Amino acid sequence: MSLITSKEIFRKAYEGKYAIGAFNVNNMEIIQGIVEAAQVENAPLILQVSAGARKYARPTYLKKLVEAAIEDTGLDVVLHLDHGEDFEICKQCIDDGFTSVMIDGSKHPFEENIALTKRVVEYAHERGVVVEAELGRLAGVEDDVNVNAKDASYTDPDQAVEFVERTGVDSLAIAIGTSHGAYKFKGDPKLDFERLEKISNMLPNFPLVLHGASTVIPEFVMACNEYGGNIPGAKGVPEDMLSRAAKLGVCKINIDTDLRLAMTAAIRKYLVENPDVFDPRKYLGKGRDAIKEMVKHKIRNVLGCSNTL
Ligand code: G3H
Ligand code: 13P
Ligand code: ZN
Repeated sequence: MSLITSKEIFRKAYEGKYAIGAFNVNNMEIIQGIVEAAQVENAPLILQVSAGARKYARPTYLKKLVEAAIEDTGLDVVLHLDHGEDFEICKQCIDDGFTSVMIDGSKHPFEENIALTKRVVEYAHERGVVVEAELGRLAGVEDDVNVNAKDASYTDPDQAVEFVERTGVDSLAIAIGTSHGAYKFKGDPKLDFERLEKISNMLPNFPLVLHGASTVIPEFVMACNEYGGNIPGAKGVPEDMLSRAAKLGVCKINIDTDLRLAMTAAIRKYLVENPDVFDPRKYLGKGRDAIKEMVKHKIRNVLGCSNTL
């Protein structure tokens, strides 16, 4: 039971054609809900921290909370930086003891992305830390993704091979039509599986990563809205598409929005139904329970990594 890198769990996931959940963490209740679910499901786990989460909770708290979770559950956990935007934040996290970092150079031109990623890989590998990079841009709901726009923003398979060879990166986030947040598609959800298959075939035994992979389960959006929320038109990635991606070399699936919705729905419901309660443990506890149920569901029914430890 310790902080581990994703090397071995990705190798097993790739061979077993399942994916590992990478869940975003911001506070104690979220961490507890996630690790308790992974413990029940006997599943490998990646906890990821964004720059925003570091700012909100402050770096020391999240690191210590993850260490506490490991001690409490006896689980091995990958502690990962999500969307590191420059060398400095990656370096800070590596120096702080993270076992995995993402350098997200996807907004830069190809050569700059390569140079930045290479620099992080060098620093990380010397210290036994693994690196995820990103090539291609995630689609936004505002984007009208026609064929030309798709070619410009989705990951190019030839470039992906060159990128991996030249940077020595350990995993690669690809763009095939997902996007962050609760509003992923205007019309019917659609991912470019042909492209994914091509990338996967051209990069054998190499772990791919899917960001923006929340399903935005209608039940939870409705539950939020029923208790005073206003989240119209939210739409995410259908779960069967995620299971399909897991069979095509996607070893890490990033989920944040679904946890936010589950936690918020539970807390809204509790507060509306119990207007006289003002003990934060009561409603945060409901939020934690909701996170646990959501993560159990993802691990068991979507990612397929139950009982793979
Ligand atoms: O990809 C972004 C994650 O959902 C983290 O979001 O930057 O609001 O913490 P955040
Ligand atoms: P969602 O917003 O779809 O949960 O994606 C989260 C993510 O990709 C974090 O990096
Ligand atoms: Zn992301």
